[in-house]
Amino acid sequence: MSDRDPRPTRRNVVVLFIDIVGSTELAERLDPELLLRILDRYYAACRTEIFEHGGAVEKYIGDAIMAVFGVPVSREDDALRAVLAADAAMTAVHRLSAEIAPTHGVRLDAHCGIAFGEVMVADGSGSNVRVIGDTVNTASRLQSAAGGGEILLSDDVARLVRRHALLDGVPPLTLKGKRDPVRAWRLITVEPDRGAPETDTVPLIGRTEELQQLTRFHDRVVRGRQCCMATLLGVPGIGKSRLVREFLTNLPEDVTVLAGRCPSYGIGATYRPITEMLEALNGDWPTIAEAVGTEGERALRGLACRGDAEYQDDTPGVAEIAQAVRSLFEVLAQRRPLVVVLDNLQWAEPTLLDLIEDCSAWLADVPVLLVCVARPELYEARPSWGGGMTCAMALELGPMSPPHMARLVAELRAGRADVVAHDDDGTYQRVIHGSDGNPLFAELMLETLAEGAASLPPTIQALLGARLDRLDAAERQVLERAATIGHSFSVEQLEVLFDGEPAMTAAPLSRLRRERLIRRGALPGAYEFAQTLTRETVYALTSKEVRADWHRRLADWFGDRAGDASEQAPFLGPASGDVSRHLLAACRLTRQVRPGDPLLPELTGRAADQLIRDGGQALHRRDLPAAIALLEQGREMLPPGRDEHRSLAVRISDAELARGEAAAAAAALDRAEELLPEDPRTQLTCVIQREVLALRSGARAPELEPLRVRLALDPRDDLSWCRFHQLQALVHIQEGRFGAADRALRDGLALARPMGDRYEEDRLLGGLCELVQWSPTPVPEGLALCADLLARFAGDRALLVPVLVTRARLLALAGDLGGARESLDTAGQYAEELHLGLSAVAVVQVRGLVESLDGNHQDARELFSRAAAALRTAGHGGPAVTLEIYAARETLRQGDVRQAAAELARGDAGPPQLRGELTALAMRGAIASFDGEHADAMSAADRAAALLESTDDPCLRGDVLVEIARIRRAAGHDPAEPARRALDAYLSKGATLSARRVRDWMKGLR
Ligand SMILES: Nc1ncnc2c1ncn2[C@@H]1O[C@H](COP(=O)(O)OP(=O)(O)OP(=O)(O)O)[C@@H](O)[C@H]1O
Ligand SMILES: [Mg+2]
Repeated sequence: MSDRDPRPTRRNVVVLFIDIVGSTELAERLDPELLLRILDRYYAACRTEIFEHGGAVEKYIGDAIMAVFGVPVSREDDALRAVLAADAAMTAVHRLSAEIAPTHGVRLDAHCGIAFGEVMVADGSGSNVRVIGDTVNTASRLQSAAGGGEILLSDDVARLVRRHALLDGVPPLTLKGKRDPVRAWRLITVEPDRGAPETDTVPLIGRTEELQQLTRFHDRVVRGRQCCMATLLGVPGIGKSRLVREFLTNLPEDVTVLAGRCPSYGIGATYRPITEMLEALNGDWPTIAEAVGTEGERALRGLACRGDAEYQDDTPGVAEIAQAVRSLFEVLAQRRPLVVVLDNLQWAEPTLLDLIEDCSAWLADVPVLLVCVARPELYEARPSWGGGMTCAMALELGPMSPPHMARLVAELRAGRADVVAHDDDGTYQRVIHGSDGNPLFAELMLETLAEGAASLPPTIQALLGARLDRLDAAERQVLERAATIGHSFSVEQLEVLFDGEPAMTAAPLSRLRRERLIRRGALPGAYEFAQTLTRETVYALTSKEVRADWHRRLADWFGDRAGDASEQAPFLGPASGDVSRHLLAACRLTRQVRPGDPLLPELTGRAADQLIRDGGQALHRRDLPAAIALLEQGREMLPPGRDEHRSLAVRISDAELARGEAAAAAAALDRAEELLPEDPRTQLTCVIQREVLALRSGARAPELEPLRVRLALDPRDDLSWCRFHQLQALVHIQEGRFGAADRALRDGLALARPMGDRYEEDRLLGGLCELVQWSPTPVPEGLALCADLLARFAGDRALLVPVLVTRARLLALAGDLGGARESLDTAGQYAEELHLGLSAVAVVQVRGLVESLDGNHQDARELFSRAAAALRTAGHGGPAVTLEIYAARETLRQGDVRQAAAELARGDAGPPQLRGELTALAMRGAIASFDGEHADAMSAADRAAALLESTDDPCLRGDVLVEIARIRRAAGHDPAEPARRALDAYLSKGATLSARRVRDWMKGLR
């Protein structure tokens, strides 16, 4: 803890206020000289307790004393120390009162308040500290609210000391200067050794391999009758103590177990673990005493006397104690195998470490297994630990796997009715993934969750904060920069923040790795935090002003680097996301600590532009949730009144609609009108887009003419025009007029290109490509469009899938069934890899068409049915009905008329599509015709012919006309006219396969 940084630091501390009750009355009744003497004794008593428990007295305010725990260094038990100090100070005050009451006729009493939280500490060295922050006020207010003799704890402090104290909840306090009532707890008793209850409510999860290793090692000790040492290492809370408990439970009956823990607090507790072991041996003492001999007995007895006893002549020396402990183990192990557990060795005094090493080196021929449990920093105190021993092993516990964490969380949930009350799967997922494979963190997060709090539990903060405070200044500087860069970081990035001084990073990095705070990443020069929570804690404890500056520099660096990507080194990471992330953080922090900064508007503008650009890319990739989040963030950063708000709203609205969120899609438009009030172009664009939303939600087609009249007033409003053409296309598609829809999209495209709006252009091209399956545009032209788009969207598989599906359909129509299948295979593979559910359904559907054209009607039927079922599950009732009708048609084509009729009768739930309606009508005619009901058949055919006039889809027309021709022929009428028209329809599209079949059929007629 040498060279600490003298700059003001953010840190988590515990603040304690203690004050005399009724001091005015005392002043009234006592002579000031006497009062001063009494108060001096009171101060002295309190100060002593505060110092002895590791606190620093910050200042005296009137008669009150303010103390801080956690400066200059945090310890994970700062809260416990503060509570112990308060309790002891209170006892001292009462002692003083009892002493003066008879002679001075006054009683003295005090009250206390303790709070935990983030503060700024200026000049944290020595006793001269200045602590600024709301935590100070809270502690002071709690103290005022406490009655005489009472110690009130804030909620966080209560959580931190709960395992060591009895507390009583008090009704939420309304404190001066606080908006909301504050939860508080009254201290009843505190007892540091109460410790955690060691009954495990959850079975041991995972760790089988580690448990086996320990068990095998123990077998070796027993079989070989030798002393061995197992060191179990791991970060706080990872499950070391738990594993050892499990190991001990599974040991054979005849094994003697001695266990002791090193405490984190208190001076002079060197042999505490040994005295704990001796306590457990009380019953056996006479026999043991005899066996270890007089010297040994004296040494061990000496350990039992409390540290506050006066120095005695016969106080044993270190060597004697080591010798005695060794004989003790020897004596016990001669009777039965012995396991000695020493937990929390990272807090052991060097003398105790010497003693353990000495034992393992000198104990011979007796089966003793020393299990040493410690956090990785044990190696800081003793780098050579375990080296040079003949029989030693080290076992390191790593994070638990996500499936194991999921099981743990499930078990913990099952055991807590209060948590179940907050049941919500998303939250549990957050605990599973947010706890870094650390079971303690999961437990603590769940506990906080049960209490309805959202932030990082104070228990975790205290644990991690203490760990970080043990780092030296160089390590801390590296870690703070790394945390600002992100979970993963590289040496190169660190150097950017160190102004290119490589010397600053190398050594601290390797020390941080040894301390298990970071580990190597996948790429050369890359590292990552071993625990996400560590990063979060370091980040939170770094000055915001400094962070804001670093974030800005990182944004610049990532931005420049994106420009450096080249053919030779194209992989420079996802730079754009990083740029916006850092810009956003820089803005947020600057706004918090320097709201008047003249550079802020420029920074905000940059962040908005970058977010919008990233959002556009995400939209292009069809990563809708990300796109919406980015665009919305960009929109909120962009100053109102900027023209971009209009196109942003349209994009957000498109993305929401594609996600099926119609209300959110509409809300995006409302927001644009708020941000660009009184702007006629925005209003018009929004009106048009609202019509699109309505149409997509199943409303009737709107009147286009009034819109066109409004548009004519501003011929240069390209975006509104462009969107109008898209609306037009949608209306035409709904009416079955694919040629007109195609023309409308091309009109839109003609505007989007000169606007340079790649988003609109892609959208229109995608729409055209989909349309080309049904529109009169001939197959070769459609295939050319597909080829263009395959090149344009190359490398973006989500965009390629619909193009490949269209291509497959066109190829199949042209008779290239092999090519069609190949295209579908690729599309299917992409759709599966990218989890594109609906696109996968489209692939299955077109496979159905290909098999049908190939005459494999059984396969085609299954494919159509499968696609229909998937669509129904996804809530697309209309298209599902159409596909069910197609499936029934395949049954009919196999010749199973009755079955087809039954299937047709079933599949009518859902809004009908023109396509499905026509096909069903033609099928009904065909079935009637087969049954000899020619009049019914002809009437169905006539109705189909009439309905057919509303669509220009050539293949749909061809398919229905072929059925009409067959019906006519069966009824004894001339089929030539509909057959010829079917042929013309197929030929105009270039659907050669179907055309050939009609032609053959017509030849057969002659
Ligand atoms: N494998 C496991 N299965 C179920 N619960 C576990 C497992 N490992 C740890 N736990 C639970 O997680 C909590 C933390 O574990 P434990 O106290 O053993 O951590 P530790 O590594 O000893 O930490 P410290 O260094 O702070 O002593 C305990 O409540 C423990 O019961
Ligand atoms: Mg432990």
